[in-house]
Amino acid sequence: MHNKTPLELLDMNKRWAAERLSYDSDFFTSLVNVQKPDYLWIGCSDSRVPANEIVGLKSGEMFVHRNIANVVPHSDLNCLSVIQYAVEALEVSHIIVVGHYGCGGIKAAMDQNHHGEIDNWLAHIKDIYRQNYEEISAISDRERQADRLCELNVSTQVRNVAKTSVVQKAWKNGRKLKVHGWVYGLEDGILHDLDVGVESREQLHTVFQIDTTR
Ligand code: CO
Repeated sequence: MHNKTPLELLDMNKRWAAERLSYDSDFFTSLVNVQKPDYLWIGCSDSRVPANEIVGLKSGEMFVHRNIANVVPHSDLNCLSVIQYAVEALEVSHIIVVGHYGCGGIKAAMDQNHHGEIDNWLAHIKDIYRQNYEEISAISDRERQADRLCELNVSTQVRNVAKTSVVQKAWKNGRKLKVHGWVYGLEDGILHDLDVGVESREQLHTVFQIDTTR
């Protein structure tokens, strides 16, 4: 198997578009006019986890943000802008943080090797590792340790989404908005709900409950 050239990709795109039209002549016109997804997906950049595909949605039905190891840093302008647009313009009702078992970013955060600039990004995950070091170290298998850190990362990022001024404001205004935490299994293709969802300001410590009216 050889890697395809960009020129070949453009050819394949033409074939793909023609094939789509042969099934459904309105496929593109229906997508052009509407982008009103009800979900924002925050996932890992890993190419084995294609967001809308694994939940059987069409591309226009899910707004997607991805980065290495699905991190939501408090001051990441990129991620914050996506959340603001999703909540205020698209008016999504669900924000789903999706990690995946076997995540290379999580594993890299657990070792002491120098990976380059990415070490600074992975420090967000190292913080979570350190905070839960006893629990994770008690697990004997290294892969299982990484899986547990993957879950703890998702649960932390769910709360980070909830702490953003955008989500705080939406809740203060009475909007129904739920933040979910899921993990995807690469081996079986199944998503697991970690049951770490947050849907109100009261679920966060008072220091994070921003009163957007004052
Ligand atoms: Co990953």
